[in-house]
Amino acid sequence: MEEQRVQTIASQSNDDGIVDMFVRAENEQPGMTTIHGVNLEVPIIDFTNPDEEKVVHEIVEACREWGMFQIVNHEIPDDVISKLQSVGKEFFELPQEEKEAIAKIEGSNSIEGYGTKLQKEIDGKKGWVDHLFHIVWPPSSINYRFWPNNPPSYREVTEEYCGHLRGVVKKLLNSMLIGLSLEEDELRECAKEDELNYLLKINYYPPCPFRDMVLGVPAHTDMSYITILVPNEVQGLQASREGHWYDVKYIPNALVIHVGDQMEILSNGKYKAIFHRTTVDKDKTRMSWPVFIEPKPEYEVGPHPKLVDPDNPPKYKTKKYKDYAYCKLNKIPQ
Ligand code: SIN
Ligand code: FE2
Repeated sequence: MEEQRVQTIASQSNDDGIVDMFVRAENEQPGMTTIHGVNLEVPIIDFTNPDEEKVVHEIVEACREWGMFQIVNHEIPDDVISKLQSVGKEFFELPQEEKEAIAKIEGSNSIEGYGTKLQKEIDGKKGWVDHLFHIVWPPSSINYRFWPNNPPSYREVTEEYCGHLRGVVKKLLNSMLIGLSLEEDELRECAKEDELNYLLKINYYPPCPFRDMVLGVPAHTDMSYITILVPNEVQGLQASREGHWYDVKYIPNALVIHVGDQMEILSNGKYKAIFHRTTVDKDKTRMSWPVFIEPKPEYEVGPHPKLVDPDNPPKYKTKKYKDYAYCKLNKIPQ
């Protein structure tokens, strides 16, 4: 049986049975657990600041203290971002059959394609979100089968955005390495800039009449080294700080950066992956475009040997990234 899409459910009148699949336990419900009226002021880093050392320092501090920050005045033109957003929106607004044509293949190991749930749901609750996943870089890792043919400009627009993103990734990773006193040539294959996979996810969160009780994406850290995300203008990203949940301020045209598990692991805990989740809106569709910058599946990931010594034993295991991902997605302890 074809999986039910949240977009379809949202467009039909709600019956209680369906509602039940989405309603979270009270200790997870955003209405009960959000610190209202305060936007979390995560660090905002200006990439045009001529004092480059200061920018590096700000990135490093944000990775240590927050695991999340926003970049303003990056070099990605605003119209490149708005075109990316338009083609993604157009895809999700296509008739359902057209979207199903690039659905994730059931039973396949790959997460690429159009789909609904991602992580195994331990308590059977579903997130109020549909998504599209596909690799966008490097060309040798791309499978165009999972890229929309419609709208026709989807590929060109998405490739243009990803071309710009490469410069941002380079600058971020270089800064993070400086903060760890590592040289690029000291990195194993798994973390070298030109060996990374870029995986785009588009999240589509339809409006929800009982928004205080549901989550879009439940609380998690990303598996990637870093994630670079642009949201639309609808508030929804929340981050956890000292055990409380806060809305993260939406800044038009900013890039939201998440430190992911692989960066925490590589740094042996010096940098922290950010725990985050998303809420949905009562009236408006929220969308977001995270790009996960991650190792290739076959490479081994683990703490960098230079960051491990008798006083700082490894805090994480070394294993293949594909094994890490399998455990994470299936909620098996690492
Ligand atoms: C996610 O963490 O997967 C989604 C973040 C967002 O939609 O802002
Ligand atoms: Fe995430």
